[in-house]
Amino acid sequence: MTNSRRKVHEGKAKIVWEIPPPRDMPGTGRAQEPAFVIEFKDDATAFDGRKRGLIEGKGRVNNLLSAIFFELLEREGVPTHYLKTLSDREMLVRRLEIVPVEVVVRNVAAGSLAKRLGLAEGTPLARTVVEFYYKSDELGDPLINRHHVRTLGLATDEELDRMETLALRANDILGRALAECGLRLIDFKLEFGRTDAGEIVLADEISPDTCRLWDVESGERLDKDRFRRDLGGVEEAYEEVLHRVREAAAKWRDLRPGGREGAEPAAPASPASADAPSGRPRARVFVTLKSTVLDPQGAAVRRALQTLGYTEVGDVRVGKFIVLELEEADPERVDEMCRRLLANPVIEDYRFELDE
Ligand SMILES: Nc1ncnc2c1ncn2[C@@H]1O[C@H](COP(=O)(O)OP(=O)(O)OP(=O)(O)O)[C@@H](O)[C@H]1O
Ligand SMILES: [Mg+2]
Repeated sequence: MTNSRRKVHEGKAKIVWEIPPPRDMPGTGRAQEPAFVIEFKDDATAFDGRKRGLIEGKGRVNNLLSAIFFELLEREGVPTHYLKTLSDREMLVRRLEIVPVEVVVRNVAAGSLAKRLGLAEGTPLARTVVEFYYKSDELGDPLINRHHVRTLGLATDEELDRMETLALRANDILGRALAECGLRLIDFKLEFGRTDAGEIVLADEISPDTCRLWDVESGERLDKDRFRRDLGGVEEAYEEVLHRVREAAAKWRDLRPGGREGAEPAAPASPASADAPSGRPRARVFVTLKSTVLDPQGAAVRRALQTLGYTEVGDVRVGKFIVLELEEADPERVDEMCRRLLANPVIEDYRFELDE
C-alpha cells in the first residue's frame, strides 16, 4: 500500500481507498475521472456481523470474479463502476455516491425469502422477485418497499426504476453466463451508485458472498451459505466457482457487444433455407438447455405468451438450431462435433437429424 492512499471506508469485506487526482487511466477509456481502489479482504461475516471468520483466498476470488462479471455486464450494456484490475485483491473503480438501497433479485426460493413466505428452499419462483433493502448496519438492513424509499428520500422514483431495470438485465446476463459454468443463479444482491453526473451505475461486488450459486448437477451450494451454515469446504467452493467462471470467460470476451446472440454460430436465414437442396448431406442440430438448468430466455418467452393470452403454454425452452453441410453423412462425427463444440453437454441437451 502506498502512502498516497487514504482509507475512505473499511467495511466487513473490503477496504475503499481514495487515490490522489488527477490521474491518467491508460487503457480504461475513462480519463481523469475520480476513482477509488477497492481492496478485497478474506474476512467473512454473516447474520449482521454476529458470525465472524476468515475464508482464506476469498478476497482474491471475489476480486477476480467481480472483474469478470463487471466486464461481461458492461459489454452487454449494463454500466458498472469497474475500471481496471490492479492486483489479485485490488480493483480500480469509478468513485460513486452509493444509493443506500440494496437490490436483491431472486429466481428460486432460498434464505430469508423461503422463511418469510413459507416456501421450501429450492422452490423455483414463477416470477422473478425483486426486493429492496435499506442499507443500514444499525437497523440490520431491513426489507423496504418503494414507499419507504420515497419517504426516506433514498432515491428518486426514476433512479429506483433504473436500478430495477438494470438488476433484471443483470439477472438475465449472469443467469445465462453462470448456466454455462454449470451453476444455477438462485439469487443475488446488487448495490448501485451515482456518478458526479447523476448516472446510475452498478457498484460494489458480484461474488459468492453476494450470490447464491448451486451446482446444476448435484444441487450443492457453492457460495457463502457454506460459511453461514457451517457446511465445510468453504474455500474449495469459492475456488471452484472462480475456476469454472474463468474457463468460460474467455468465450464471453469474444462475444460482440450488444447481445450474446450475435456471436452464436451462424443460423440459417429461415428454417426453409436449411432444407434447400444442395446435393450434399446435411446435419440439422438442435441444442436446448437441460431441463434442470434455469432458462431465463425461455421463462421470458413463456411470460410474454401468457400475457398475450396463450395460457395453455407451460414450460418453454429456447435453444439453437444449427445446420451443417457435410461431405458425407457420418453420425459419429456429427455427434463428436456436438459434444466438442456445438453443445455444452454439462448444461445442454442436443439431438441431430441427418439427411442426404
Ligand atoms: N464505486 C464505489 N464508490 C464508492 N463506494 C463504493 C463503491 N463500490 C462499493 N462501495 C462501498 O464500499 C463499501 C465496501 O465495503 P464492504 O462491502 O466491506 O462494506 P460492508 O461492511 O459490507 O458495509 P456496507 O454495509 O457499507 O456494505 C460498501 O459500503 C460499498 O457500498
Ligand atoms: Mg458490503
